[in-house]
Parts: sequence; C-alpha cells; structure tokens
Amino acid sequence: PIDELRERLRGAGSICVLTGAGMSAESGIATFRDALTGLWSRFDPAQLASEEGFRADPALVWGWYAARRDGVRRAAPNAGHVALGAFARRHPGRLTVVSQNVDDLHQRAGNAGTIRLHGDILEDRWLEACKRRPACDTLTATPGTPPRCAECGNFVRPGVVWFGEMLPAGALEAADAAAERCDVMLVVGTSGAVWPAAGLAGRARRGGAHVVIVNPQPSEIDDEAHTVLRGTAAQLLPALLDGL
Ligand code: APR
Repeated sequence: PIDELRERLRGAGSICVLTGAGMSAESGIATFRDALTGLWSRFDPAQLASEEGFRADPALVWGWYAARRDGVRRAAPNAGHVALGAFARRHPGRLTVVSQNVDDLHQRAGNAGTIRLHGDILEDRWLEACKRRPACDTLTATPGTPPRCAECGNFVRPGVVWFGEMLPAGALEAADAAAERCDVMLVVGTSGAVWPAAGLAGRARRGGAHVVIVNPQPSEIDDEAHTVLRGTAAQLLPALLDGL
C-alpha cells in the first residue's frame, strides 16, 4: 500500500501528522510503554510525572528530568523527523505536526510549527503563579535541586504537562483544527493510551481524512485507521514522503 498512500499524499492539500514517543525511539529516546525499555516499566509516573510527586520530592523529580533533558540534547533527529522536515520545506503550510513528545526533534528537523500537546522538556517554568511584585526572579539554586525564588520560595519545574494537568492553552484547539481539516493523517509511534491526544485520530477520520498508522506494534487506536503499516518511523516516513 506504500505506492497507493504516496498517491494519496501527493494529492492531499492538507496533511496532519500525530506523533508519539515511538517517533523519537530511533533517536535513542526511551518510549513510555514499550515492554522492558519503556520509562513506565522502570519508573513510577505518579511519583515522577505529577505535581504531587514533584512536591513530595522536588530533588528526585528535578534530577530525573535533568537526566532526560541531557538525553534530548544528545539526541539527533532520525530519518523519520528528517523526512517530515524536508516535506514541510518542499510544501510550506501543507503538513502540520501535532506531537505528544516533549523533545525538540521535530523543530530541529524543520517542522517549526509543531504543535506540542504535552509541553517542552527543555523549558523551565514556575510551579505556582507568583503572588509577589516584582514577580519571582531572584533564583537560588542548590545543585541537584530545582531552582527556587529566594523571595517567596516558588519552585522552578520543567515545562511539561504532568498527569492530571491541563494542556497548554490553545494547543488542543489548534490540534483539533488540524485534524479536522486534513485529507490524510499519519499517526506515528503512539500507543493511543493517553487522551485527549488519542482522540485526534478519530477526529480526523470523522472529518473525512484517510488515517494511516505507522507502528511496529498494535495500538489502542488501530481501529481508527484505514491503513496500518507495521514498521518504524525511520523506515516508513522516508518511504512515504521522500520525493513527493
Ligand atoms: N517507530 C514507530 N513506533 C514505535 C517505534 C518506532 N521506532 N518504537 C516504538 N514505537 C511505538 C510503540 O509500539 C508504542 O505503540 O511507539 C508507541 C509508544 O507508545 P508510548 O510509549 O505509550 O508513548 P506515547 O503514545 O507517546 O505516550 C503518550 O503518555 O506518558 C505520557 O505524556 C506522555 O506523551 C506521552 C503520552
């Protein structure tokens, strides 16, 4: 079906690509739910990816994100990211990436307008809205612990969406619009376990898009796809997009 899909992509006025952790697996960044290697089979998400967990042990959570940040900085976009970025350069405005990933590999590969539903792991932000004037900016930082405001004790935390938290304002609306209007949706490297991101495939299908899943394993949203390609991002995205 690659050739048939290439014809569809060639004629598609609008393409939306929904990506998950599997998109970055071939860049050496661990996924969350792969057996054995997934982060959630080795770490407790409640302890490490929630506000309660951060408040309970800020140094533990800050250290875990510091290690993940190093991994992201050392990682390079893989052939899948590169194929998406090259397509976007050849066809400005035709392809929108909506990612659940908090790394910056899509942006580094050339998809500048990537919609990041779960935030940015490289961004710092305040744990609480600062209640003082001037706002928190007098930082103290003890190595291995999160920086704090010397005035009010506010913590710095990574700019990612933790379990139970709201998505960045406007991100879901923009993602919904991209899913609604696209002619083809490529769903790459996601287990479909986390909502509302997982709902975007069904949204695209109801909007009339041809939905393609790229994943070596079955996912929870396979039944939303018209076509399922059992393979990896770095193998299949170049095969689907290069030369179009
Ligand atoms: N190419 C394509 N897909 C792959 C590859 C690869 N090389 N390697 C693994 N996969 C697939 C796996 O089969 C799995 O279906 O990627 C998917 C990764 O699923 P998860 O680890 O659950 O990641 P994701 O779907 O992005 O998780 C969603 O959960 O923990 C939260 O906020 C976190 O954004 C994350 C969200």
